Amino acid sequence: MCQTERGDRVKIFIDTAKLEEIKEANSWGIIDGVTTNPSLIKKTVDSLDKNVSIEKYIEQICREVDGPVSLEVKSQGAQKMIEEAKKLYDLFNHVNDNVVIKIPVNTAMEDDQENYEGIKAIKILEERGIPTNATLIMSPNQAWLAAKAGAAYVSPFLGRIDDYIRNNMGLKAGEDFDKESYFDEDLLERIRSEKAREIIKGDIKEDIGRIYLNEGLTSLSAEVKSGVDVVRKIKRIFENYQFKTEIIAASIRNARQAMEVAEIGAEISTIPFDIITQMIKHYKTQEGMKNFTKDIIPEYDALFKK
Ligand code: G3P
Repeated sequence: MCQTERGDRVKIFIDTAKLEEIKEANSWGIIDGVTTNPSLIKKTVDSLDKNVSIEKYIEQICREVDGPVSLEVKSQGAQKMIEEAKKLYDLFNHVNDNVVIKIPVNTAMEDDQENYEGIKAIKILEERGIPTNATLIMSPNQAWLAAKAGAAYVSPFLGRIDDYIRNNMGLKAGEDFDKESYFDEDLLERIRSEKAREIIKGDIKEDIGRIYLNEGLTSLSAEVKSGVDVVRKIKRIFENYQFKTEIIAASIRNARQAMEVAEIGAEISTIPFDIITQMIKHYKTQEGMKNFTKDIIPEYDALFKK
């Protein structure tokens, strides 16, 4: 069977640094790449024997998958990130020629810090032939600039965008919603129109002002409706201007998000192992299995014993 018959134009990456998860999912024939980040590496190393060499471990990850493996830099300045990217590339790309360097699109941690270090690093690495994955993308504009600078991939963080919108609505993670709960953008629209009705009934001047002043739910929802919506908008921008940059839908927290970004046409989804397993489950499939198994007649059973 040729690759295109297997839907090769839509790719699934696994969002983990755990080798056993990578190997297991890879054995099912569904994995086209791996994404890691410092938090995923920490989680993995915490679960490993103290004597495991992280260098050898990452080499094994690169060897396991015949597709891009994203490894992230650790600094904030462009020059430092370029040096780190080169270091990671030299250490691991020779293993399977599949290393991609994750660069945060914006490394500033406070408002008064320099905002363009990520973009600068992406541009220079692109010129040096080192492919980059612009990470921590939270808005279509960030993806647009990263693509323009030459990123091979952009990674919008769906779950974290949804968290942000929910937090701005006054909802609390763990209390009002779970990490893996689906965020319904239509619900946000309904709340927004309800809010608009209240505003119209009340002090129009003050509240309408607030809509446009980047405060709270109304202005946020005017820009993007959900993490899935960010992917939809990036896809449209990239198609309008024929960017070659591929979208990696990341921070996927549930199977419904995975389905929706595939519908939109994100080239790649990077999915944690437990969400991949959710994608294959269905109550009616289990029920069907029970019934088929129960209905096996002895004559049919005998065929398998010949
Ligand atoms: O690929 C990004 C991802 O690892 C972040 O996921 O669930 O921590 O937002 P999450």
